[in-house]
Amino acid sequence: MEMHKDFFTYQAQTTKFAAGFEVEKAEGNYIYGTDGKKYLDFVAGVSANTLGHSHPKVVNAIKEQADKYLHVMVYGEYAQEKPVALCKLLAEATPEPLEVTYLVNSGAEAIDGSLKLAKRYTGREEIVSFKNSYHGNTHGALSVSGNENHKREFRPLLPMVSFIEFNNEKDFDKITEKTACVILETIQGAAGFLVPDFDYLIKLKKRCEEVGALLILDEIQPGFGRTGKLFSFEHFGIVPDILVMGKGMGGGVPVGAFMGSRKIMETLSHSPKLGHITTFGGNPLIAAASYATLKEVLESGLMDDVDEKENCSENFLFIRKLKISTVKD
Ligand SMILES: Cc1ncc(COP(=O)(O)O)c(C=O)c1O
Repeated sequence: MEMHKDFFTYQAQTTKFAAGFEVEKAEGNYIYGTDGKKYLDFVAGVSANTLGHSHPKVVNAIKEQADKYLHVMVYGEYAQEKPVALCKLLAEATPEPLEVTYLVNSGAEAIDGSLKLAKRYTGREEIVSFKNSYHGNTHGALSVSGNENHKREFRPLLPMVSFIEFNNEKDFDKITEKTACVILETIQGAAGFLVPDFDYLIKLKKRCEEVGALLILDEIQPGFGRTGKLFSFEHFGIVPDILVMGKGMGGGVPVGAFMGSRKIMETLSHSPKLGHITTFGGNPLIAAASYATLKEVLESGLMDDVDEKENCSENFLFIRKLKISTVKD
């Protein structure tokens, strides 16, 4: 009872109706409450617990790293085993030209970093995003999110952001030679899990190339195996210029990252140097957990199971190569 009361008294609340569920421990698919009961968890940390709760390989990786050292330097100065291994494995696991990864602390920070990178790389100011999108809650991420109700009270936000409709090619004329980047969730989550139509992303990428805008895909929610591929864009025949990830990447620890070609990513290192400073980005403890998670996702056959489970349930989205049906159908 004491913890429940203190939670509502001392911890800042996000709503007036938080559950305040008291957690004792969590393992695999289950959370154990302080009430002595075992709960089957369908939430999975809101897409963050890729391997279930407290996966032994993730926990051991954290313990091993903790025995060596915790934090030694801000992001990007020292060469440390786990962050380096994580970035290298990401490069191996993703298609060209994705090669170089910037490690940060959360999805929203990764979105902010990716927007800064696109503006810096193209020298342009305008951003095109999507109606009903969700990209996080920092000022930058909120600026490109499509939910006006959520944004109104926090204006002014980033200027020069326009919003187009998902799956509507008629809006492509709003992507112009002034556009630094087009940012979208590969599968729109908060909008109701909307899957791109057949060749929509191919056409969108083509339009970006025509006008010299970068295509940023937010894979924070569908990434890390949730659609049966490491990243969901792999179903749609394109590769983004900048790939943003987070959530399930850490197997239960806070992390985010954005990734691109060597040429694009190196722009954050000059003019100005330290283009995106982050103290804890690439933290070795977090990187150790993320590396263990990525290795397990790649090697365990978990992604094959996704297809099998998907086929077992009529209610699941059906995504198979470019044959796509959506929840709207
Ligand atoms: C698609 C998408 N983008 C960005 C974010 C923001 O990530 P974070 O909460 O780690 O800042 C989320 C989180 O729910 C998300 O689902």
